[in-house]
Amino acid sequence: MTGMHVAIIMDGNGRWARQQGKPRWRGHLAGVDSVRDTVRGSPDLGITTLTLYAFSSDNWKRPAAEVGRLFWLLREYCRRERNELIENGVRVSHVGRRDRLPTKALTALDDLARQSAAGTRLHLRLAIDYSAQEMIASASRRLAEEVQAGTRRPDEVTRDALELALTDGVSPVDLLVRTAGEQRLSDFMLWETAYAELYFTPVLWPDFRRADLATALTAFQRRERRFGGLVAVNGSAAGAPAPKLAVG
Ligand code: FPP
Repeated sequence: MTGMHVAIIMDGNGRWARQQGKPRWRGHLAGVDSVRDTVRGSPDLGITTLTLYAFSSDNWKRPAAEVGRLFWLLREYCRRERNELIENGVRVSHVGRRDRLPTKALTALDDLARQSAAGTRLHLRLAIDYSAQEMIASASRRLAEEVQAGTRRPDEVTRDALELALTDGVSPVDLLVRTAGEQRLSDFMLWETAYAELYFTPVLWPDFRRADLATALTAFQRRERRFGGLVAVNGSAAGAPAPKLAVG
């Protein structure tokens, strides 16, 4: 059975560093420990897909030194965690724009994706240079090109067709977690969270551990998910009636 899809906006690295009297990048460095622990804990919590917001398309506005350090951390993560991820059956993939990523980071991501491709316990998706609005626009563009080429009729540009072009068959998000207290989506998974439960915690990302994820899941299990209908549906969206059939 398909388990849950959890998506996390990892926020608060800078605030954590400031509280510790350290430079901002030390918050990102500490955040890697949280990534590792969350990934390790996910399969036992029934999570089969985990999408982490590691670098938004808006993050390019940050000072070049901070951007450089973030991509260095990503590369190091891919290199250092590779064996453990593969041994634990974790498949890693990238979601977001590829064309602006530093070559070394892209190569590290591609290598890890290829080497971990057989993993079936957890699909770890790293959202890097990610903008949900841009993802929706580029999926729409691909469908428009098919219409222009005559391989798709305009009336075949449906909700299902756009969803497939956008998500490549990855199930919708069941639970979206954001750390560090802010209560907004910040251009993350706007389509895929249409029926997701949202969970906001004041815990700063570098302090976040699998126990905090377990707390979020306990809160999730108490929620009544109705997908627009009248009857509560338990469990993940994968096991629920297709949201597209529901009204409201
Ligand atoms: C938000 O905190 C966090 C980020 C922009 C980067 C997240 C990156 C990591 C956790 C490390 C690398 C990731 C992987 C997958 C290895 P912020 O800097 O916006 O914090 P602030 O709002 O407190 O300033």
